Amino acid sequence: MGIFVALVKTETPNYNEYIKSGYHAVLNRRTILKNELVIVLDFGGQYNQLVARRVRECNVYCEIYSYKTDIEKIKAMNPKGIILTGGPNSCYEPDSPTYSEELFKLGIPVLGLCYGAQLMSHVLGGKVERADVREYGKTEVLIDKKDSKVFEGVSETTTCWMSHFDYISKIAPGFEITAHTADCPVAAAENAAEKLYAIQFHPEVLHTVEGTKMINNFVKNVCECAGDWKMDAFVENTIAEIREKVGNGRVLLALSGGVDSSVAAGLLSKAIGKQLTCVFVDHGLLRKNEGDEVEAIFGPEGQFDLNFIRVNAQERYYNKLAGVTEPEAKRKIIGEEFIRIFEEEAKKIGTVEFLAQGTIYPDVVESGLGGESAVIKSHHNVGGLPDFVDFKEIIEPLRDLFKDEVRKAGLELGLPERLVFRQPFPGPGLGVRIIGEVTAEKVRIVQDADAIYREEIENAGLDKTIGQYFAALTNMRSVGVMGDERTYDYAVALRAVNTVDFMTAEAAEIPYEVLNKVMSRVINEVRGVNRIFYDLTSKPPGTIEFE
Ligand code: XMP
Repeated sequence: MGIFVALVKTETPNYNEYIKSGYHAVLNRRTILKNELVIVLDFGGQYNQLVARRVRECNVYCEIYSYKTDIEKIKAMNPKGIILTGGPNSCYEPDSPTYSEELFKLGIPVLGLCYGAQLMSHVLGGKVERADVREYGKTEVLIDKKDSKVFEGVSETTTCWMSHFDYISKIAPGFEITAHTADCPVAAAENAAEKLYAIQFHPEVLHTVEGTKMINNFVKNVCECAGDWKMDAFVENTIAEIREKVGNGRVLLALSGGVDSSVAAGLLSKAIGKQLTCVFVDHGLLRKNEGDEVEAIFGPEGQFDLNFIRVNAQERYYNKLAGVTEPEAKRKIIGEEFIRIFEEEAKKIGTVEFLAQGTIYPDVVESGLGGESAVIKSHHNVGGLPDFVDFKEIIEPLRDLFKDEVRKAGLELGLPERLVFRQPFPGPGLGVRIIGEVTAEKVRIVQDADAIYREEIENAGLDKTIGQYFAALTNMRSVGVMGDERTYDYAVALRAVNTVDFMTAEAAEIPYEVLNKVMSRVINEVRGVNRIFYDLTSKPPGTIEFE
């Protein structure tokens, strides 16, 4: 896929570099939030982030750590509970991820899920073996101990998501079996006196119908968390914390108009007002009117107290992009130009002690810091801080939040819903929605066609149901006829996909009459277009963007 140079994430340079350099340690904001912390120890399972999200849905703050985290560090964090995730290994193999018995003797409640459940049993003297058949998918689980603290209010027979080959063939001493399935004698076990709970299935996955209830039971009934981690408190605490950290200093933020940088701007503005300067680079590759919309919210007429610098760099970008047709080359130019402009603006401002970024928690985890299943998202990295910059520190007010929590914070701060719930828009903008050379004329065409498409999707009430949709400009021109005239114009491609994770996607089934209306409006209203295609390609083999 190559390196994407992201402007949406321009506030997110090379994480690995600065994370290694220890910046983030200085910024550890957890003190305020930590009074009620549950930690997830990640054994490489695919649902690690889901586990943390479910805990946070119970209004309990939760962080993910690698299973390699030292016991002393865990003790120092003083968590109210520990959850061990699933993972792809067999716990009885010598090199498999493990944890010492000490973890289970701290007096802190532990919940083991899938691999975590097996590991708990294995380490504490039970037995784990390979089963003859894999148990996979939705499975009926029968609860044997109805008054178990984790199964309070759960039906006697309940549908759960199973995914395992190994199974607990013998529970550890002191444990009792609390649930089973037709194929699995130990679907759950516990040693209530020691506050140790093992669950073979995945309560964090929504296919486990009563899973959220089980996780809520663990954090409330077993860990005795009050559940007072709420977004208004987060916003309030973060504002206080930013004030304390920044003092009289000045903060610079690259604002893209995307959700993360906008929410970061909102928080910083509430905290330090005009000590914050936001640089918004309009590269001329935004959607129709988007630059003005960003300015209306964050500019002098907007609702926030901050210094707003809009750099109208449209011409500069079009000049740089003239004659360039190769997609990666376009991305590179767009990204590099951004860094240059940002540098120039920063120099004009003079001494700025802090650089703020809209890094969010999945960025942190996926860049290999938080958990174990590290996937480095190189495409969201710009490639390092501008080298002239001499910032004292980086401020990342959203570093602990999941995307949906960032949105909640945005609403709390009074950002318009349209912005808070906007669909993903790539950093290089329309530069990745125009095939071939990017010109001002082509940008106008795609902006106008896209605006009509979005309007009609909204009119049809489909905007909340489709994952991502936009118009793109093919590089194809062909002969058509309009009135009595022969035309030789461009073909616009309409794209709409449904996706859960943006790694795979299916083309959305848009009703024919909606497509037809978009077709006739675009042809009539947008000069330079005489054909419309609907892109049916899924991902893979296609990508979501059209470049
Ligand atoms: P693709 O085209 O790779 O896109 O299937 C997957 C998702 O990522 C978005 N995307 C980007 N986001 N900077 C971003 O911040 C980028 O350079 C970039 N390129 C693609 C795309 O819109 C889709 O949601």
